[in-house]
Amino acid sequence: MSTPSFFIKIPYTLIGPGNIDRIKELLDQFDAHSALIITDRGVKEAGLVNKVTAAFKKAGCSFTVFDGCEPNAPSSTIDKCTKQAVNEQPDVLIALGGGSVIDTTKAVSVTAANNVKLSDIIGKQSLPPKVLPKIVIPTTAGTGSEWSRLALLSDQADGRKKALRGMSLFPDAAIVDPELMLGMPPRVTADTGVDALTHGIEAYTSKTAHPTGDVFAETVIKLVSANLPRAYSNGKDIEARYNMCIAASFGMAAMTTGGGGLAHMIDGSIISKAHISHGAALAIITPHVMELNLPANIEKFARLASLMGVRISGLSLEEAANASVEAYKKLCKDLGMKQRLRDVGISKEDLPQIAENVAKFAGPRLAPHKSDDILRILNAAL
Ligand SMILES: [Fe+2]
Repeated sequence: MSTPSFFIKIPYTLIGPGNIDRIKELLDQFDAHSALIITDRGVKEAGLVNKVTAAFKKAGCSFTVFDGCEPNAPSSTIDKCTKQAVNEQPDVLIALGGGSVIDTTKAVSVTAANNVKLSDIIGKQSLPPKVLPKIVIPTTAGTGSEWSRLALLSDQADGRKKALRGMSLFPDAAIVDPELMLGMPPRVTADTGVDALTHGIEAYTSKTAHPTGDVFAETVIKLVSANLPRAYSNGKDIEARYNMCIAASFGMAAMTTGGGGLAHMIDGSIISKAHISHGAALAIITPHVMELNLPANIEKFARLASLMGVRISGLSLEEAANASVEAYKKLCKDLGMKQRLRDVGISKEDLPQIAENVAKFAGPRLAPHKSDDILRILNAAL
């Protein structure tokens, strides 16, 4: 009998159109009378900060805004936001934005509570004990950061992507409101949506996958396959946006319970070199990771094809499994995503350095995979 060990934690989350107007319910839970809203200029220009601050005014909660977040959460931005939080001593932090904003907020919840710089905590075995409460309001549907204990950031000291990990990084609450995503541009919709799909696929086909994690993963794969093309072609499709919201959060639950995969170990080193989004890097790398993993897990990949909407009746198991890779590639192509590393400015000479960076980022987690596999994947993706 298979009896896998795993943990599950899902932050208290309000999900549904218009739920931003329920912010008072959450502020009351934390007895919060002041908030620091952490966001970026894109979110502000899209009018979402005004929408959220209107809800704060209605709730009678004072607030200030830090709108200096940048892609990939650079360490200097985290330190700048920390200074503001230390000066203002808000009762609660509010993350309003995509993955980088949420990850910046998570890091600041620790640095500001302990009055330290990011460099004081990065690379340490554990995080310092104090933490500020944080409510997360995603404006994209993909990273699932609202349900994770991770903060991914860029350490400008050595130019590498790094991760903070810890139970205190889980948001205390979240509001997932698809109305905040109606204006998301098609490119961001596609890139973030492919991230959610890849979370589902990597968890589903992981060696550590199990039936409970699969419940989340299967839902993610079905929802993204059916709804991402709709949300991409018509951003105002509220039902498609709603389903993508659920998929994004469930994608992180799938990964947390079932396990991650190699595409997520490789993509950071691609991003550092090519300066493309997380989802854009995954779209290029993931089919080749799937091809590597497929022979050892052929039934699961065949089922994956079916979940992605491929008719597998009449196909052999192997044909059905291979069809999952083709379905992933076709979806990404239909979403206008680049398919090869050379399309994003990476050349053959860059590959050994990228492979080395992957090994540094992954550390002991890479042990089951030979470094040859990484180079093989990168060469295949070139
Ligand atoms: Fe991801």
